[in-house]
Formats: sequence, structure tokens, C-alpha cells
Amino acid sequence: MAESKSATNENKISRNRLAELLNEDLSREYQAIIAYVVYSQVLSGAQYMDIAAQLEIHAKQELDHALILSRQIDYLGAMPGVTPKPVRTSKNPKDMLRYDLENENETIRNYRDRIRQCEKLGEYAMAEQIRQILMQEQDHQIDLATALGVKVPDVSGGPKGRALRKRR
Ligand SMILES: [Fe+2]
Ligand SMILES: [Fe+2]
Repeated sequence: MAESKSATNENKISRNRLAELLNEDLSREYQAIIAYVVYSQVLSGAQYMDIAAQLEIHAKQELDHALILSRQIDYLGAMPGVTPKPVRTSKNPKDMLRYDLENENETIRNYRDRIRQCEKLGEYAMAEQIRQILMQEQDHQIDLATALGVKVPDVSGGPKGRALRKRR
């Protein structure tokens, strides 16, 4: 099996490789579910009440994403994985939010690639499903950046990143 690290090599993408990449996305969704379940409950302090409530909503949305991905992986004839990417923890609320933001950035980068890869394979409905997920991930990113008081990171500059916003 050609297991090259060419996650963004759109021209070489096969349905098997797409299923593998979707399984990596699924691991990130599991990671996000766990992180949001825990962080939403342990974030304390008056200034974090709003974001803690938002994180609870994120947790449920990440579960929806995991279900959608699992269905797509099954549709491609592969078995959905069961392993989350590692979840970092901290006693520091800012660290927790920063970890979440970094994970969302990574997730967004991957889904942007995935949409292009789905379209290359003619899987337009799948691309549409991932677009819907991507819209929520971008909302998560904005929620976290706002809570941290930082600018929403521009993650459009990947290897094959097509700038959706104006170039830096
Ligand atoms: Fe998600
Ligand atoms: Fe998310």
C-alpha cells in the first residue's frame, strides 16, 4: 500500500487513502469530544463562564462530526477507527483554551484539504458534508480566539493551501 505522507497530494488520492485520512480526522474528533467534555466542566472563574458554556456545545457538535465521519468511512468500505489523538491537559484555563485553539487550527487545515480531495474523487456529497463540519470548526476557532483575546489564526497557508481570505 502506498502509505506516503502525501496527505495533501491531491492527484494521487485514492478512495482507500481518503478513508485513511478520514480516520485521522475521526481521531481528531474523538480528541475534541474528550477535551471539550473535560475542559467545559473544569474551567472555573467568572471570566470563563461564557466560554465554558460554549465548550459544552462544542462537545456535542464534535460528537455529530464523529458520527458523520464514521458514516463516510463505512461508505468508503473501511472500518471507522476507535482511537483518539492524545488530549493534553492543564490546570491553567488559558493553556486549555490554547490547546483547543491549536487543535481546531489543525482540524480546519485538514478539512480544507479533505474537501478538495473529495472533489477530486467526484465525491461531491461527501465534500458537502465536510463543508458543513468545517463551518462549525471555524465557529469553534472564533469562539476560542475570542475567549483568549487573540486574532483568529489564518491557517490558509498550508502546502496546497488556497487562500480563502486575502493573502498575508
Ligand atoms: Fe469536529
Ligand atoms: Fe471543533
